[in-house]
Amino acid sequence: MHVLVTGGAGYIGSHTVLQLLEEGHEVSIVDNFSNSSPESIRRVNSLAGRSAHLRSVDLLNQQELTKIFADTQPDAVIHFAGLKAVGESVSEPLKYYRNNVTGTLNLLDAMEAVDCRTLVFSSSATVYGESTALPLIESTPRNATNPYGRTKLHIEEMLEELAASDPRWSIANLRYFNPVGAHTSGLIGEDPQGTPNNLMPYVAQVAIGRREKVHVFGGDYPTADGTGVRDYIHVLDLAAGHLAALKYLRESAGAHTWNLGTGTGSSVLEVIEAFARVSGKEVPYKIVERRSGDVAENYANAEKARLELGWKAEHGLEQMVEDMWRWQKGNPTGFGPIDAFGMTDEELDIFLNR
Ligand code: NAD
Ligand code: WQD
Repeated sequence: MHVLVTGGAGYIGSHTVLQLLEEGHEVSIVDNFSNSSPESIRRVNSLAGRSAHLRSVDLLNQQELTKIFADTQPDAVIHFAGLKAVGESVSEPLKYYRNNVTGTLNLLDAMEAVDCRTLVFSSSATVYGESTALPLIESTPRNATNPYGRTKLHIEEMLEELAASDPRWSIANLRYFNPVGAHTSGLIGEDPQGTPNNLMPYVAQVAIGRREKVHVFGGDYPTADGTGVRDYIHVLDLAAGHLAALKYLRESAGAHTWNLGTGTGSSVLEVIEAFARVSGKEVPYKIVERRSGDVAENYANAEKARLELGWKAEHGLEQMVEDMWRWQKGNPTGFGPIDAFGMTDEELDIFLNR
């Protein structure tokens, strides 16, 4: 298949592009590099031994987007492009609605124009909001509690309405739990800009000595050790879930929703301990106030994906931490200043035009 991947230079996108290339698919990436670097794709290409086409375009640029679809005529789209910082979405909600919702509308128009109606969308367990009925199952009522989460909820609803209106559409809403880890090569991984919002990259930066200590948000939750529990999922398992969903959509029309999680929760202290054990480094931490908006515990029921997609997460916490640590050690400042050496002419052009 020819798969167009929006946001393919980002964290989850780059790991998925690599698996698509490894499976023999043709891949075109559309990314504006607002939260990524083309260096990730240079490394993906070198790992795969073949190249994805990389286009530096913003989804908000309808004209250019339409042109890319006309040029590439993809069979399917995997849509990762989006802004994802919950706190920033509260202070700049319009930026989030514009980028995530308008960006998706533009994408759908560009797809329709070339009769491409197969779409895998990056949704999030955040659409379950403060639901306390665990484990979270796809039929749990949606109730997002911040603008970022509501962009995901609105997009899910929009996609369901679209599929209901026209049986030619095949759509997957994939609700990720907490993606972590990195490719086993240590060459690609998550490269957060500034202070990481999420636990794992923060802990990794403490272990490598870039930050002093982990602030544990709340030690008095009704959980086994009092700290928050989440369903961490290895990014390689997540990427594999996208390929499984694509395969399913080739044979089934309509909108479908799957949780992608392991079904098992780990506490903040368990994550810190695993990191200290794997890295052999001290990971100092301090328990501080709860972070507003956090729930005590959340983990997936991932049975639907197992039964319908034949997919299940294979990696446990130890493996997630080992891979994350290898990436962090080898790339202490992420992708760093971009090294144009080894880029294809196309990549280099994109780069110089930035
Ligand atoms: P990421 O920021 O690493 O990747 C997103 C990519 O999209 C980046 O390369 C960015 O440059 C690009 N992008 C953003 N806006 C764009 C636009 N308007 N036009 C073109 N490109 C644009 O994030 P990620 O962690 O890989 O997440 C991918 C998707 O999965 C996002 O939609 C995110 O909301 C969703 N998600 C992420 C998590 C998580 O914790 N990482 C959890 C659930 C869902
Ligand atoms: C995990 C646990 C924190 C940082 C977020 C988004 C969600 C989804 C995934 C995109 C919690 C605790 C964290 C720290 C801490 N993203 N923590 N100290 O909040 O489950 O989910 O990312 O869709 O929408 O909300 O993940 O990694 O931020 O937190 O103690 O410095 O770690 O309280 O219990 P979260 P997280």
